Amino acid sequence: MSDQIVVTDDGGIRIIRMNRPEKKNALTQPMYAAMTLALREAANSDAIHCIMVAGSPGAFCAGSDISDFQKRAEGGLKAVTIDFLHALVRNPKPLVAAAGGIAVGIGTTMLLHCDYVVAASSARFSAPFTKLGLIPEAASSLLGPLRMGHARAFELLVMGHPLSAEEGKAAGLVNAVVDAAALDDAALQAAREIAALPAGAVALARRLMRGDLDDIAKRVDMEAAYFKERLQSEEARAAFAAFLARKK
Ligand code: COA
Repeated sequence: MSDQIVVTDDGGIRIIRMNRPEKKNALTQPMYAAMTLALREAANSDAIHCIMVAGSPGAFCAGSDISDFQKRAEGGLKAVTIDFLHALVRNPKPLVAAAGGIAVGIGTTMLLHCDYVVAASSARFSAPFTKLGLIPEAASSLLGPLRMGHARAFELLVMGHPLSAEEGKAAGLVNAVVDAAALDDAALQAAREIAALPAGAVALARRLMRGDLDDIAKRVDMEAAYFKERLQSEEARAAFAAFLARKK
C-alpha cells in the first residue's frame, strides 16, 4: 500500500488519511488504488462500523494529480480513479470526512459521498473543472444538485466559484465547522458516535437514504466517458500545461 495513504483502524473506525502534504494531497494513481483497497477491505469487515477520510493540516486534497491527467490525456494510465469512485458509491459503511484547508476537484466532490463532513473554519472547497476544460466527476453532476440545489451546484461545479467552510455548511455540504486545531478530534468524535449506534440499523437507514446506487454508478461511468474525451481536448491540454509550467 502506498505510504501516501495511511490506513489505521481505531476501535470500529477505519481512518484513511491522504498523506502527500508537499503536493497538497493531490491524488496519484497509486493513492487512488490504496484508497480503493482500504474502502473495500472496510466494506468486508464486520469490525469496521465507520470510515473517516482525512488529509493533512492545511490540505484535505488538491484533486487528482494534474501530471497524471496529462499522462492519461496522452493515453498512458489505467483508470483506477473510476474504480475508486465505484468503491465510494458502493461503500456500505458510514463515511465521515475531516476536511481542512484546501479541497479541490475530487477533494470536494468526494464529500458528496460522505454522510458527515467536519470542516476546519479555514477550509475552502472548489471544483474548477470547466476552467481546466473538464467536466464534474464522481457523480457530482447528479449528487451536487440533489445536495445543494441546481443554482448553488452550478456555481460550484460549473462556474468554479469556491465555497468557504461556512458557505459549505449553508449549502448542505458540511455538517460542522470547527477550528483547524480541533478538526481531527471533532471528526473522530462524530465517527465514534456513529460507530456506537446499532450497526445493522445504521447501515439500513443509510442505504435507504442514499437512493438508487445503480443510478449513481451509471452517472460515474457517464461522466467518466465524457471526462476521457475532455482530457484529450485542446482546452484541457492547454490548462494542464499552464498549471505545470506556472512556476518554471
Ligand atoms: N496536481 C499536481 N500537483 C499539484 C496539484 C495537483 N492537483 N495541486 C498542487 N500540486 C503541487 C504544486 O504543483 C506544488 O508542487 P511544487 O512544490 O513541486 O511546485 C505543490 O503541490 C504545492 O502547491 P502550491 O500550488 O505551491 O500551493 P498553493 O497553496 O499555492 O496552492 C492549490 C494550492 C491547490 C490552490 C494549487 O496548487 C492548485 O490550484 N492546484 C491545482 C488544483 C486542481 O486544479 N486540481 C484538479 C481539479 S480537477
